[in-house]
Amino acid sequence: MKIKFIFFNLLLLVAFSAIAAPPVEEGKTIFSARCAACHNVNKILTGPALAGVNERHSIDWIISFVKSSQTMVKSGDKEAIALFEKFNKIQMPDHQDLTPDNIKNVVEYIKSEAKTGEEKAPFAKPSKLRPNYTPLSLTKDASLFIGYLGVVALLIMVLLFAVQLKQYERNS
Ligand code: HEC
Repeated sequence: MKIKFIFFNLLLLVAFSAIAAPPVEEGKTIFSARCAACHNVNKILTGPALAGVNERHSIDWIISFVKSSQTMVKSGDKEAIALFEKFNKIQMPDHQDLTPDNIKNVVEYIKSEAKTGEEKAPFAKPSKLRPNYTPLSLTKDASLFIGYLGVVALLIMVLLFAVQLKQYERNS
């Protein structure tokens, strides 16, 4: 009976790990809540259209800028000053509470939403039909795969343990 209970819990664990939000989804949530008032990926609003931002700047630059754009303007960063001037000296608010990973996920979301202009057929790429779809890649999602391997290894270990336990019960 106890063993069944352990198995049930393990199954629950596996099920939950499969539901955890992927990075692009997290980026979308942050973008909608914190950035969409001034930014659209493909249109200029109060702030610039963010499509291709990862090609215009390094990821470190983007992280510093999102955390505190005015700090960069004041420190004399040329790109930041040029943008600030171009957008009529509107100050982009600081987002000090966002972690580098949060901001990277927002950039991933921007990449997934950006129109490339080379659209051929609507069914040419699943990522066009479903902008948030990112195919699993062994290198990018290594932690995911390792996590799953870990869970599988754990399951096997518990299984072996259960067999031993049964044998022990039978012998005693
Ligand atoms: C109150 C409006 C506002 C909000 C909210 C806002 N921004 Fe901005 N953003 C701007 C403005 C205006 C600029 C142009 C630079 C400047 O004026 O300092 C800008 C510039 C940028 C740039 C540089 C873009 C380029 O083309 O080089 C990035 C990246 C950026 N914002 C990301 C974000 C992210 C990510 C968020 C949400 C976490 C966000 N912004 C929230 C107004 C905003």
